[in-house]
Amino acid sequence: MQTVTASSSIQPTPAVPGDPLPPTTERYARTIEASKRVRWDIDRDVIRGRSFDLDQQFLPDGLALASELPFLDLDQQRFLGQVQGRTYANMFALVERFIGVKMLELSRDHGFGDQVAFEAMVRLTDEELKHQELFRRIERMAGAQMPAGYRFDIAANDVAAFVLGKSTWAVLALTCDIELFSLAHYRASIDGADGLSPLFKDVFLFHWKEESQHVIVDELEWRREDARIASDAERDEAVGDLIALVGGIDGILQAQAAADAAYFLAASGFEPEGEQAREVASVVLKAYRWQYIVSGTMEPRFLKMLSGLVNADQMRRIGEALAPLAYAVPASMARAVA
Ligand SMILES: [Fe+2]
Ligand SMILES: [Fe+2]
Repeated sequence: MQTVTASSSIQPTPAVPGDPLPPTTERYARTIEASKRVRWDIDRDVIRGRSFDLDQQFLPDGLALASELPFLDLDQQRFLGQVQGRTYANMFALVERFIGVKMLELSRDHGFGDQVAFEAMVRLTDEELKHQELFRRIERMAGAQMPAGYRFDIAANDVAAFVLGKSTWAVLALTCDIELFSLAHYRASIDGADGLSPLFKDVFLFHWKEESQHVIVDELEWRREDARIASDAERDEAVGDLIALVGGIDGILQAQAAADAAYFLAASGFEPEGEQAREVASVVLKAYRWQYIVSGTMEPRFLKMLSGLVNADQMRRIGEALAPLAYAVPASMARAVA
């Protein structure tokens, strides 16, 4: 008969209850503590029986950039921000599919070891599942109020298959970037905006509360993966994967910007062709590149982490890949820099 014996090579953490935790474990532990403290329910805390009101703004102009189209009146600007706000929720649901699956996959590394890290990652995955459900609800609720014809045809599983086909280092870099920009958007643009839909604002307030912990787990896991990489050649390849992921995201943004501009133009009674239509399409693409790529790469916390993990040549390659997108900052910010 086989007997079960304790393995001496695996030391689950914490080894002895009450012992101080190793510093990395302590950081995972703090995310668990905060996650328990802020935990919320979709209906009880976020939606609370409310529905969207199209007289109110969804995505603030610091992200939607609708004011950069001077021929739109204020109602049209607000509607363009609502279209983008609907896409904003759909985009988070899209990326959370691959984020959850990757985190669950990586959590297995801790399954027979650091039980605290394991719990932190299982909680993160559970929260991303809840966020996806929340964003599906938001899509249905926005759809019930807004004119027919909106489309979001990007399949989350197709995107996940593309992203998860790249190296773990690159997927974690992208994940860290996304989760950091979600925090930055809330802090810089959503939290203080006047006249925002209270429901839209709450969705991203509650999302922000849980994402604050996710960023810490992303950084810990990205560092752990980076330490596993043994050669410059392997990291070169991972940087190439990150550049390919940014290219893939930009392809998604181009398709969705075209779809959203066409929907906006049709619902607002504009000619589908012509100078104004081209300008709308170009500002929506600029706004999406700002929201989903450029704002994240400008986050000091992301830049510090990335530049600490790659060498000067790899950083230069990333900079060159991003250069064609660097124009995509709000006009007010571009003026301030000039
Ligand atoms: Fe999330
Ligand atoms: Fe997250």
